Order: sequence, then structure tokens, then C-alpha cells
Amino acid sequence: MPANPIRSMRIPGEPPSQHAPLLPTVVFASYKGGVWKTCLSVAVAERLAMTGLRVLFVTTDKQEDARSRMGIPPEAPPIARRECGPGTITVLSARQSQAIELLYRQGPVRLGVGPHDIAVVDTPPEEHGGHLPGVLLIAITDGTDAARNLLTMLQGTPSNTDITLVKVWQTPPAVWAHDAHTIQRVVGRYMGFLEDPLPQSDAIKEAHDQGASIWTLRRSGTTMDVLNGVESLAHMAWQRMGMDQPWPAMPSPKATKVYVKGWDPNA
Ligand SMILES: Nc1ncnc2c1ncn2[C@@H]1O[C@H](COP(=O)(O)OP(=O)(O)OP(=O)(O)O)[C@@H](O)[C@H]1O
Ligand SMILES: [Mg+2]
Repeated sequence: MPANPIRSMRIPGEPPSQHAPLLPTVVFASYKGGVWKTCLSVAVAERLAMTGLRVLFVTTDKQEDARSRMGIPPEAPPIARRECGPGTITVLSARQSQAIELLYRQGPVRLGVGPHDIAVVDTPPEEHGGHLPGVLLIAITDGTDAARNLLTMLQGTPSNTDITLVKVWQTPPAVWAHDAHTIQRVVGRYMGFLEDPLPQSDAIKEAHDQGASIWTLRRSGTTMDVLNGVESLAHMAWQRMGMDQPWPAMPSPKATKVYVKGWDPNA
């Protein structure tokens, strides 16, 4: 695994002084609250772990929603490790300055968290969520913030960060494609975007409320549409790592049952 992330070739003349994290990093950010950042970041982290990767999940959100979504009880140690298929997810919460130490200055090994292949970062809703350099930024919008706040965030995104726009709540894909192009034109840079907006799914909401993985849900209707979207985002992160193996197929819901060593009687 490369010690440094494979960085975008799309931005010529990138200043050599631009910082990049010590391991490939995916950041979920929005200016607005409640646009499924935590839901999507947890699901992408799980999907990456299912491919056998050692995933470091960093939540900089004080609410620490991500821990409960992963079924980790409040009394669990601050750094909790779960097995997820052939891979692992290490979950830790960090203030922004601690996340910088962990991702850019010292790295997880020197800080005693152990070697990891990729980091996934869940951020609280605010402008600075989109300001980490050298990462894959998944910028989420529900459309109502597109006019101003999302643009404010993206205008401060470092040039060596790759941006992928995601639209949550159902919208005709053609309308979303138009909006995504408008966002790129206004910000003045290339961005990828997930073509199909992610729809609402009651089963996904329920799973998250109960701390269950959305990968264990029955794969039909809008739940499947959301899983397909997450699949694309996880695959994007994998490709950006420069992985040369083929992308492993989505495991079946039964195969993706997750457990926490030491906490789960079946583990
Ligand atoms: N696809 C979905 N369909 C329906 N509800 C969803 C879906 N994804 C997430 N939710 C629900 O929407 C709510 C907000 O999601 P989530 O907490 O992931 O957003 P967030 O952007 O992390 O919020 P915050 O800004 O507060 O951190 C949660 O109750 C979650 O269960
Ligand atoms: Mg959240």
C-alpha cells in the first residue's frame, strides 16, 4: 500500500508546498446539517473494510453519531476497532487539531493507532469541513443550500483536493446534472458528481437509528439505490488509492454481518 495517497493528475501546476495526508483520505462534508454525511461516511467505511482494507474512521463531529451508528456502545474505549468482513474499521473521535496531527503530521502509526490503508473522515456541518488538502472530498448537498453555502465551502477547498458532489433526496438526474455543472462553473474548477441523486429510504433511517449496518438490509427499491451510490463512492476512493486488484463485488447482506470483537458473543 502506498504510504502517500495517489494524488489527482487533473490539476496541473499544483504548488509543491500543498499538503497531503500521510494516508489516502476521504472526507464527507457539507455546510448544511442533516444531509446524510454520517450515514454515507459510515457506509463507505464499511464497504471499504469489506474489501479487506484497514480503515481508520475519524469523526470530528462532537455528537459522535458515527460511533452509535456503528453499534459501538458509549462505554466502549475512545478508540474502538471493529472487524468488518476481511477488513477492519478503527473508530476514533478527534477535535480538528487532533485530526490534523493524525492525518498530516504524525500519522496513525506514530500516534499508536496502528497502520491503516485509508482514512474516512466524518465532519460536522460547517464551511471548514471542505478545507482539508489532498483528500477526496465528498461534498453533499440537498439542493436547498446550493445557491450560497455549498459554494462558500467549495471556494475554500484546496486545489489538490478532488471534489465529488453528491445530491441527497430524489431529483431528476438531468436537473441535478445541470445544478452540478452550475456549481462547477461558479466555483471555477472541475468536480466529479454522482449522477443519480440518492433517494430517501425508511429502512436506512431505521438501521441507523438502531446502530445496524445498512449493508445488512434487504436490497431492493430505494435502499438498493442508496447502496449503489455508496458503492460508487467507495469504488472511487479505492481507485484513487491506486489499487490494482479488481474491485471486489458487493458482498451479500448475510456475509456483511458486522461484529465487534470482545463485545459480541458470536465474535
Ligand atoms: N437514505 C436515507 N433515507 C432516509 N433517511 C436517511 C437516509 N440517510 C440518512 N438518513 C437519516 O437522516 C438523518 C440525518 O442523517 P445523518 O445524521 O447521517 O446526517 P448528517 O449530515 O451527518 O447530520 P449532521 O449534520 O447533524 O451531522 C438521520 O436520522 C439518518 O438516519
Ligand atoms: Mg453527522
